[in-house]
Amino acid sequence: NKPIYILGIESSCDDTSASVICNAKVLSNVVANQEVHSKYGGVVPELASRAHQQNIVPVVQQALEQASITKEQLSAIAFTKGPGLMGSLLVGTSFAKSLALGLQIPLIDVNHMQAHILAHFIEENSKIPEFPFICLTISGGHTQIVKVTNHFEMEILGQTIDDAVGEAFDKSAKILGLAYPGGPLIDKYAKLGNPKAYPFTKPKVGDLDFSFSGLKTGILYFIQKQQRINPNFIAENLNDICASIQYTIVEILMDKLKNAVKKTGIKRIAIAGGVSANSEIRARLLLAEKHWGWSTNIPKFEYTTDNAAMIAITGYLKFLNNNYADVSVTAQARLKV
Ligand code: KG4
Ligand code: ZN
Repeated sequence: NKPIYILGIESSCDDTSASVICNAKVLSNVVANQEVHSKYGGVVPELASRAHQQNIVPVVQQALEQASITKEQLSAIAFTKGPGLMGSLLVGTSFAKSLALGLQIPLIDVNHMQAHILAHFIEENSKIPEFPFICLTISGGHTQIVKVTNHFEMEILGQTIDDAVGEAFDKSAKILGLAYPGGPLIDKYAKLGNPKAYPFTKPKVGDLDFSFSGLKTGILYFIQKQQRINPNFIAENLNDICASIQYTIVEILMDKLKNAVKKTGIKRIAIAGGVSANSEIRARLLLAEKHWGWSTNIPKFEYTTDNAAMIAITGYLKFLNNNYADVSVTAQARLKV
């Protein structure tokens, strides 16, 4: 079993990340978050690509240093081809291509959404999923229920028809005057609040599809109305508001997972993507394991939000299949799982 070293590079949105893995074991996973977006309440694409340009070399150097290997020891370079912001993707793509060309080693293109799911195959996770399983991929850009038959055979069973669940968290947070990204803040305040304080209406959409734009509008109107009555409404009730928003969103996600189990007969459930860092969805899945006999896979916290270790593990799995990219490969803003 010869050690295979893969450098993974992720630059699809606002995190510049590089990771070195040895087979399925992570040796380093460096993530540079871009602070510049927080005051705009969302990612500004132009600023994101500029920051990637500044971060990419030091982040890759740090990843190699932390892994205690030289670039000459690398077996291949894996990078995010898409989906994501075009300007951001181009930075990682061009860098990966040049480095692979310079080192004369294989280049491997990775689908970011597949990578979120394949992060489950990183050795450090408490357990590795068995096929087939259902993965709920929940991030700032996507909300999908995917049937995973093997590492590279994935089928989308349902997805959002408008906003992603991460957007629902972030836009709700923005309404409350919280900084971007607001998901983790809602999670934090929700821990101290009553989840049943304010009932919000759940959307009506197809069996396995999602819709969050109506919920966001509902929350906006509710908050505006309450603030007219009491200008300190948000400040006085922040914990309860956050707990109620989070409860509604997680209820929606759990309802859909129940539908997916019913429809497919598959009780092995995994979650992936930034929102799977949410403490409430994690707790509810553990309860489902206990009460409904589901087998659940919850990735280690650091492999949920955007990171390059997930790109590297996907690269490793593709490397084992000699599935390399051509040097003519380009970034693709839209790419299906
Ligand atoms: O996967 P990710 O890092 O980037 C995308 O590919 O979109 O996901 C980022 C999203 C953001 O919307 C962020 O608010 C959300 O994940 N998020 C959370 C939590 N941590 C991150 N949402 C709810 N609770 C959390 N603890
Ligand atoms: Zn992502």
